[in-house]
Amino acid sequence: MQVDVLNGVNLDVVGRRDPTLYGGLTISELETRIYEFAIGLGLRVRCRQTNHEGQFVEWCHDALDGADGVVVNPGAWTHYSYAIRDAVELLTVPVVEVHLSNIEEREEWRRHSVIADLAAKRVFGKGPDGYREALEFLAAPAR
Ligand code: DQA
Repeated sequence: MQVDVLNGVNLDVVGRRDPTLYGGLTISELETRIYEFAIGLGLRVRCRQTNHEGQFVEWCHDALDGADGVVVNPGAWTHYSYAIRDAVELLTVPVVEVHLSNIEEREEWRRHSVIADLAAKRVFGKGPDGYREALEFLAAPAR
């Protein structure tokens, strides 16, 4: 099973952001964790990160041909990007929305996700382990 993990805007500098919210891992440490989770679950995973909305959209398009599941953390785009919503809506495989921080318990504007209704599962506030939960969900045979 092939899973694309797409991290969006400002997640390249996640290690410099508030560690009480984001955990303090760098993006490469986070991606290493994700690859370790994937090995444990027998999944093939490709992690990608960009600060460019159009690139994120194109990676969603790439996932149309080749991914069996997609994990997305679009960062702040989550809260307003209808371009990313439209791209995620194209996907016919299960999509899991992940956020390191608990977006429900922060500023009001973070509570709204334009992709929430498209996600087969949503995980937030669990730090890097949220990605493990997302991959476990995608790997589950009974899903
Ligand atoms: C985030 C939450 C978003 O609100 C924020 O803009 C981010 C990261 C998270 O992983 O907690 O950049 O998606």
